[in-house]
Amino acid sequence: MLEGKRILLGVTGGIAAYKSVEIVSRLRKKGAEVYVVMTKSATEFVTPITFRSISANPVYTSMFDEPKTWNIEHISLAEQVDVALVAPATANILAKMATGIADDFLSTVLLAVKSPIFVAPAMNDAMYHHPATQKNLGTLQERDIRFIGPTKGFQACGTEGDGRMSEPLDIVEELENYFTQHKTREMSGKKVLVTAGGTREPLDPVRYIGNFSSGKMGYAIAQAFAEVGAQVTLVSAPSEIAVPSGVEVVQISTAEEMYSEVLQRFPEQDIVVKAAAVADYRPVVRETQKMKKSGQRLQLELVPNPDILTTLGQKKQHQFIVGFAAETQNPLDNGLEKMKRKNSDMLVVNDVTLPGAGFGTDTNIVSFLFANGSRRDLPKMSKLEIARQLVKEIANLRSKTKE
Ligand code: PMT
Repeated sequence: MLEGKRILLGVTGGIAAYKSVEIVSRLRKKGAEVYVVMTKSATEFVTPITFRSISANPVYTSMFDEPKTWNIEHISLAEQVDVALVAPATANILAKMATGIADDFLSTVLLAVKSPIFVAPAMNDAMYHHPATQKNLGTLQERDIRFIGPTKGFQACGTEGDGRMSEPLDIVEELENYFTQHKTREMSGKKVLVTAGGTREPLDPVRYIGNFSSGKMGYAIAQAFAEVGAQVTLVSAPSEIAVPSGVEVVQISTAEEMYSEVLQRFPEQDIVVKAAAVADYRPVVRETQKMKKSGQRLQLELVPNPDILTTLGQKKQHQFIVGFAAETQNPLDNGLEKMKRKNSDMLVVNDVTLPGAGFGTDTNIVSFLFANGSRRDLPKMSKLEIARQLVKEIANLRSKTKE
């Protein structure tokens, strides 16, 4: 359940900080990506380099010792994680969280996190039972902050009582339980149709007009929806990529075939994502025999294909529609114009001229454009990670519109 999950781990200044190293190690062994943020006091107990080595990611310790990009970084870190966990969570960080104080990197990032936040309190028994701490815990509980522990037992100060941090094994298990429940909740029962790959427009039995789409982006989106329990249909142009498990695939070749398969299934879908690179034109004539070489110039007459996304935008009722835009200039302006013209609820724009973006690559660089005019720029990341971010955005948007 933790495979590919992005977890922000806040480590605060308590003796249990050494146990957080084991938390990172266990999470990583289960395939999670861990981003550690340490308070200044935490660095007195364990060095950042320990966490950097074990997490294989940079460790954030201060608002001011990172390059100038920190301001964007702390927000983008907050936006990209699937959950945040504070372990150990001292009485101090719990008080800051309860009152909204943001005076260091961790407390600031926690204010910006939209995903669920877990805390594993760790403190002396008397501090734990102090009315101020109890009041803060109550406030956080009301705000849906999830508690793991604390447990009862021997404490570093030599006393016995409540306030011991839960064991790393139990903490990791709680996160796994969360993702298990979440998987069945988030998109279960939802029908999602994804298109992928590049259509082929035949000239004759051996030649076609095509494009460089490999299908990687669309297949990753199908996988990401399947991971959160959706019933996914992938309408795919020819591709070498393995079909993700649990995904139903419908193979097509031309834009017209894609049009008819998508339109036929559209009424029962909840979400449609059009990642395919669909040919805008097809040859007027499809020769039945292989065209002979004449040695002369050849002129081909092309006729426009139906625009599938535009048709969906015109016909949509309850469906949430996401378009893509492959751009080579002014990506944001062109993407915005496409989203409006095609009546999509959201659009993913990629500048396919950038290295590591667009056709055939394992990574992509995209911006999410939203119907309300806002946008989110993502750094270069794997197509699967972008797909998971997209699923998260769609889930958020849909839950907001239902509220
Ligand atoms: O497959 P990969 O190698 O991983 O590459 C990924 C990708 C570059 C193909 C992908 O990220 C991407 O940008 N897909 C959209 C490509 C495209 O056709 O863009 P467009 O700007 O031409 O079309 C805009 C939108 O209209 C797209 O959602 C497209 O699916 C849709 N469209 C276009 C033409 C048409 N006749 N019907 C359509 O539905």
